[in-house]
Order: sequence, then C-alpha cells, then structure tokens
Amino acid sequence: MTGGTDIAVVERAAELWQHVEGVRRAGGSVGLVPTMGYLHEGHQSLVACSAADNDVTVVSIFVNPLQFAEGEDYGTYPRDLDRDRELCAAAGADLVFAPSTEEMYPQAPITSVVVQGLNSILEGRYRPTHFDGVTTVVAKLFSMLGPGRAYFGEKDYQQLAIVRRMTADLSLPVEVVGCPTLRAPDGLALSSRNVYLTPEERPAATVLWRSLQAGRDVVTAGSRDPDEVEAAMAAVVAAEPLATADYTAVVDATTLARPEVLAGELRLLVAARLGRARLIDNLGVDGDPA
Ligand code: PAF
Repeated sequence: MTGGTDIAVVERAAELWQHVEGVRRAGGSVGLVPTMGYLHEGHQSLVACSAADNDVTVVSIFVNPLQFAEGEDYGTYPRDLDRDRELCAAAGADLVFAPSTEEMYPQAPITSVVVQGLNSILEGRYRPTHFDGVTTVVAKLFSMLGPGRAYFGEKDYQQLAIVRRMTADLSLPVEVVGCPTLRAPDGLALSSRNVYLTPEERPAATVLWRSLQAGRDVVTAGSRDPDEVEAAMAAVVAAEPLATADYTAVVDATTLARPEVLAGELRLLVAARLGRARLIDNLGVDGDPA
C-alpha cells in the first residue's frame, strides 16, 4: 500500500479484498465508484453519493486499455494520481484502488463480457469494441471488491444502461446506482476529456447541451416524430462551425430502442467532435407531457 496523509492507495487486488473484508464481515456496506481517473466534480458527486449510502467507499482508478480501440486516446488519456487522491479524500472516499495493467490483466484476457445488441448501437456504431471492454473491466472490478453498490454517472448514459443489464443478466449481487450529470454554468457536461478543448473550442462545446435542449423543446411542443426531434438536434450542431456530429438520437430511456412514435420516458443523446475532443451528452425527457 502507498501511504499518504490524504487517502490510502492500494495497487493489488488481494490487498483491496483484505481492506474491505473486515467491514463486510461486520455487516458494513461497501460502495464502489469505478473511474479512469483525472477526476472532476462529477466524479466527486458519485463519491459523495456512495459515502452517504455506504460504510466504506472505494474509488477505482484505472485507464482500461480494453475499452480503447487502435487510434483512440488510450496513450494520451489524462492521468494525475496525486491530484485524484486528494479529490477522492475531499469527497469522502475511504480508499483508492489504482491497479497496474499487469495487476488487472496478468495475462491477455480471452474471456469477455458482452452485452449483445446494446453494445453496437449509438456509441457502439462509432466504437465497436468499447462497451465489451467496459463490461469486462466492470465485471472484474465487481469480482475484485465485492461491492454492494456501484455508482455510475448518467453522463455516460449508454454505459449505465449496459452495466445495469449486465448486472441483471449475470445476477451480480450489486445495486447499480445512476447519478445525475454535473454541468458547467454554460451547460457543458463535466468530462475528463474537456481538457482536450482549446480556448476557442471550449465555448463552442456548449453545442451539445444546446442540441439536447432543442430536441427537448420539439418533444415538449408536442412532436411524436423521432425524425423531427433528431433533425432539430442535428441542425444545432451543424450550425456550429467547430463541431461535427457523430449522431443525434432519441431513444426509449430503458431499452435504448428508437421508438416509431415518441411516448413514455425518453432519452436524447448526442455525440460530436470538436478538434481533438469527442464529447457525448444526454438528457431525459417525458414523451407524455401533461
Ligand atoms: O466511465 C468510465 O470512466 C469507465 O468506462 C469505467 C466505468 C471506469 C470502466 O473503465
């Protein structure tokens, strides 16, 4: 274990288990906040939720190579463990688990957790191997720690839906808790990848939030046509010279299927590129407004 005045960091899975075993034996609850580090207030809000619900909160920090494809930002993904541990301590975490790649994958894995169908739509069309990497590492983290609850941001809405489905399908004894997205005052969702935005691109990046609001306005004005909603969202992104949309979509909030006629709980999703940054965002909307 690496000691510190702020918070302990363990690097080995066996040590992690030892840390929480006593708590569990004594009937205490363990919460997990899985992250890839370079933490911001959004992550800290997940930690605070877990700390309020559980006796012990563990934050995992691991940039998972399995969820990056060739040519993506695995090598340059921002990393700062010293800063992260301070932010974890300030938010109320009890322990940081920061394994090496060798600790997580002592041999190249030939086993993978695949949530069929949900892994290949929306983000999956642009990042075909991404969600299999996410579900595999999350399943491993659940095994290594045995948390009663795990906390994920709604910011990665498809990831949250996929992790929920994996947990249900595999009867994993973990309650998956989704927490609301935190935004800058101008609406930009907090994300570790916002660091890639240049000073010129930063104000333009509000285009994702503006696109979501435009889609919501079309639904609340009474449209039941997904094409109309998606077109309104896409028009906002198209009007921003520094941004290119990968997709704008309206889907059922639970199944992520695209309804022919809009009704019930819906989710609007957008992905756009601004220079080096590829950003995603989403917003819930009621398809049956009063
Ligand atoms: O959302 C993330 O940061 C990652 O996808 C996760 C859940 C920590 C798995 O690597």
